[in-house]
Amino acid sequence: MMTVLPILVAPNPLLRKKALPVQEVDSQIQRLLEDLEETMIAEDGIGLAATQVGIPKRILVMNVPANVTVNGEQIEGMNSNPDLYHIINPEIVWASDTLVACNEGCLSVPGQYAPVIRPDSVRVRYLNKAGKFCETTFLNLQAACVQHEIDHLDGKLFIDYLSALKRDMLIRKAQKVRR
Ligand code: NI
Repeated sequence: MMTVLPILVAPNPLLRKKALPVQEVDSQIQRLLEDLEETMIAEDGIGLAATQVGIPKRILVMNVPANVTVNGEQIEGMNSNPDLYHIINPEIVWASDTLVACNEGCLSVPGQYAPVIRPDSVRVRYLNKAGKFCETTFLNLQAACVQHEIDHLDGKLFIDYLSALKRDMLIRKAQKVRR
């Protein structure tokens, strides 16, 4: 059975902790992936990092509609369920020079959105739920999402890209929509 976990809201200091790599993908880690997936879906999110439920491990889940084909060919690394990713120990091994602004939000800063500029595609090396090494190139919204979630594992929030004034304002406003 999967469990919906409570999500931490900024400025909770646990959101600022740097998460540690997973040593072994065992049943406990797989269970955590399932709980993160259940929580993300229950909260209508497109991504969720373990840091956001107070577990400092380098694990995230993502559920962004994928660009399944490029020039009629399936993108390398896609599996039978291309929208849903279970990602352990992610590492960005390549990032495009092209930058793009994406309007980002976060379950830990509920109800608040702001544009963040990031590379428009990134290649990520990670372990999947079965503990197998994978490399996937993420584009567009998937690229923004995976970078946003990896930032969480380093204790960073999307509001850190904004001015201090704007950041403080969004944190204050998020308190009012706090679950
Ligand atoms: Ni977030």
